[in-house]
Amino acid sequence: MSLPIAVLVSGSGSNLQSIIDRIEQGVLDAEIKLVVSNKAGAYGIERAKRHGIPYRVLLHTDYPSREAFDQEMVDAIREAGVDETGIVVMAGFMRIVTPVFLGAFENRVINIHPALLPSFAGVNGQADAADYGVKISGCTVHFVDEEMDHGPVIIQAAVPCQAGEDGDVLAPRILKLEHRVFPQAIQWIAENRLEIKDRHVELRVAGRPCAEQPKADIHPSTYALVWPPLEKGF
Ligand code: GRF
Repeated sequence: MSLPIAVLVSGSGSNLQSIIDRIEQGVLDAEIKLVVSNKAGAYGIERAKRHGIPYRVLLHTDYPSREAFDQEMVDAIREAGVDETGIVVMAGFMRIVTPVFLGAFENRVINIHPALLPSFAGVNGQADAADYGVKISGCTVHFVDEEMDHGPVIIQAAVPCQAGEDGDVLAPRILKLEHRVFPQAIQWIAENRLEIKDRHVELRVAGRPCAEQPKADIHPSTYALVWPPLEKGF
């Protein structure tokens, strides 16, 4: 059975689109039961409509408390058919969720953040990294816990940053990788291959941790991003 998922959006929904595309290509074994937006006019809702996916617009400003809003989301997601076997995917959802939400989907909520956590948490990950002058930034998919941009890390991808580049230059470079790593993380959950131990997420292959798999002797340059690149002799 496909993994039932709900996707939460607040904006353009390009990450939602990447999930839809991978499902339609047959590489991601999931079914989007519901898209929820907390913003009227979010383009993510247009994407849901275009693909015949059920959607709800729930405006947090209509609710007396964060908890009341979260309970409404929980009810909508449950009604749409995401039970305890499913997950909730926060794809550019610009709102902190409370224990009301996290308790309903324990260890079943994931988020994508456009920086290499724990660096540059918050709403301006790309610009904060660029302004700091880092040489490498990227994106992180993680399980959501009660602290913002904090839960156990599932996958990260790195991109180089050049002197003088600002957040607007970095954002699309990072977004391209978001569109690859987010569907991959969901597929690992669909295959029941992730195990959280303390805050370490283990990726399993054929029932064993990947680290125990026989490894080829791989040259560091094929798996490490060093930026600026190392020069001859190093
Ligand atoms: C992404 O960069 C995501 O990491 C961040 O917000 C952006 C959302 O983009 N949380 P989109 O709505 O998926 O296009």
